[in-house]
Order: sequence, then C-alpha cells, then structure tokens
Amino acid sequence: YSDASQKIDYVFKVVLIGDSAVGKSQILARFSRNEFSLDSKATIGVEFQTRTLVIKHKSVKAQIWDTAGQERGAVGAMLVYDITKRQTFDHIPRWLEELRNHADKNIVIILIGNKSDLEDQRSVPTEDAKEFAQKEGLFFLETSALEATNVEDAFLTVLTEIF
Ligand code: GTP
Ligand code: MG
Repeated sequence: YSDASQKIDYVFKVVLIGDSAVGKSQILARFSRNEFSLDSKATIGVEFQTRTLVIKHKSVKAQIWDTAGQERGAVGAMLVYDITKRQTFDHIPRWLEELRNHADKNIVIILIGNKSDLEDQRSVPTEDAKEFAQKEGLFFLETSALEATNVEDAFLTVLTEIF
C-alpha cells in the first residue's frame, strides 16, 4: 500500500465529524494503522493521520482530520454516530448543517453508524439511518472499528467518489 518513494498524484482531505465518543479516533486508527484501543481518550486539539493508497491506478494520499472545524478544503466527510446511542444519531442533522455551512458544496459525505459489534445494545435501527441518508443524499454504512468491519469500505466509498 504505502511506499515513501511513490509519487503522489492526489492529496484528498477528509474530515471525521460527530458527537464525542462515537468512535471517530478509533475509526481513524483502524484505517491508518490497523489499530484499535478500547480505552481511547477524548481527542483534544487538532489531529490528522494520512494513508496513501492506489485508486484507479493513481496514488492518493488521504489526509484525515479527526475533528470538527477543519472543513475548509475538505473534499470528503464522514458523519459518525454510535448505533447504541440514539442521541448521537439525533444530532446528525446539526452536524450536517455545520458541514453544509462550512464545507465545499460538492463535498462527498458518508453517514456512518459505528459500533455495529454491539448489536445487542442497538438503539438506532439501520432502516432509520438508511432512510435519512437517502433523503439527504449521503452514502451510508454501519462500521465496527473494533472488529474492522466496513472501515476500509467507508473510506474507499468516499475516496473513490471524490475521484
Ligand atoms: P472524541 O475524541 O471525544 O470526539 O471521541 P471519538 O469519537 O474520537 O471516540 P473514540 O474513538 O475515542 O471512542 C470512544 C470509545 O468508544 C472508546 O472507548 C473506544 O474504544 C470505543 N469504540 C470506538 N469504536 C468502537 C467500536 O467499533 N466498537 C466498540 N464496541 N467500541 C468502540
Ligand atoms: Mg477522538
């Protein structure tokens, strides 16, 4: 995948947005380093990670910002909620509005229901989220940073669509 000597064709900035503790940092840790931590601390300040991958024969450096307020220049956004915490889903319209006020109007957005491994604690039905995403024109996936389910797919969906 990544190779320091490789020439970079594109740099794409992507932002991760959503309520505290939904798993934004662990989604990013899974994607950028294939790591996960159960005792992850709340993110303070501005952090980003990068990973270079090949998409359609071009090398793309994804620069992923783990915080709100970094929407300027972003070409992709991941709006994350926790499937076990209804409130984090109910706040999504506010995050979407913030995004639409501050980001490029062509930004590619994916709605992500994280912690799909906690099915027994689910409080947001998949159908509700699917319907919301459809109405708002967003991509949608449920992920588990813990089990590494759909994390790669979520990033690839955004990065491929940006292309
Ligand atoms: P802030 O930095 O405060 O905005 O939170 P965050 O969205 O970055 O959340 P973080 O990634 O720190 O994860 C919060 C908690 O949820 C941690 O205890 C993680 O280990 C846990 N967590 C994250 N993703 C998953 C997941 O997919 N499944 C489960 N079971 N726990 C997860
Ligand atoms: Mg964090």
